[in-house]
Amino acid sequence: MTFSPGLLYGQRAVVVGGTSGIGAATALRLAHFGANVLALGLNASGEHAPVHERIESREFDVTDDAHVRAVLSQEASVHVLVNCAGISRDREEYELEVFEHVLNVNLTSIMRVCSATIPALIRARGSIINVASMFSTFGSADRPAYAASKGGVVQLTKSLAQSYAAAKVRVNAVAPGWIATPLSDNLRRDQAASQKIVDRIPLGDWGEPVDIADTIVFLASPAARYITGVTVPVDGGYLTV
Ligand code: NAI
Repeated sequence: MTFSPGLLYGQRAVVVGGTSGIGAATALRLAHFGANVLALGLNASGEHAPVHERIESREFDVTDDAHVRAVLSQEASVHVLVNCAGISRDREEYELEVFEHVLNVNLTSIMRVCSATIPALIRARGSIINVASMFSTFGSADRPAYAASKGGVVQLTKSLAQSYAAAKVRVNAVAPGWIATPLSDNLRRDQAASQKIVDRIPLGDWGEPVDIADTIVFLASPAARYITGVTVPVDGGYLTV
């Protein structure tokens, strides 16, 4: 059955940050393989939100504790939880308030969402996939909070993997490289900056959201049943240079 069209048939998937870019592509791939998907995020009816008969997109703010608990405690059984919400505020991140907000959205939210969803994940023996970044590995003078938060995602993934393993809930992460999404739009439009990036990518081009989505499907699938606590780079080889 691995990677047959019915791979995730009848399963419930929740994609936090599923209303744009990588999360929207992931929601679509999960639905394509048969899952019923709840795509949560900002601008849930906006132009980037995924449209599919098995996807419901809903407005959701990961920093709102009470709302997160209220929405996720209603889930009876969750087979796949994807934590994909993320923001970057560039050099504004040197302001403490902005720094804390970026950490809240990118890192603390994962703890918040996992804590609210773990009963439903245990009932399904499900799995969690967090979205890290190449900046989990590199420092970034231009994005100190973003890089710190993404480094934290890798460590939190390992800790939760240990903690949830007894309940047979796996926890993994993907670390995207340079992916063409609304978040990276401005950078891609800057031809000189984009060319500099592409010159450093061994596979020679920006990645697409579906490249990340397919890796997430793999990590959620029975093919990954013995994998937990890892972060898989999906970056065209960028980290090797
Ligand atoms: P995007 O801007 O297209 O999507 C971000 C998603 O996060 C949206 O669904 C948005 O609604 C959601 N979000 C933001 N703040 C939120 C909040 N307060 N509450 C709920 N949802 C919120 O960006 P993209 O590129 O698809 O990014 C997705 C993830 O991938 C992020 O975690 C990002 O850090 C990560 N990533 C992206 C890379 C890229 O090159 N595009 C590279 C490495 C990591």
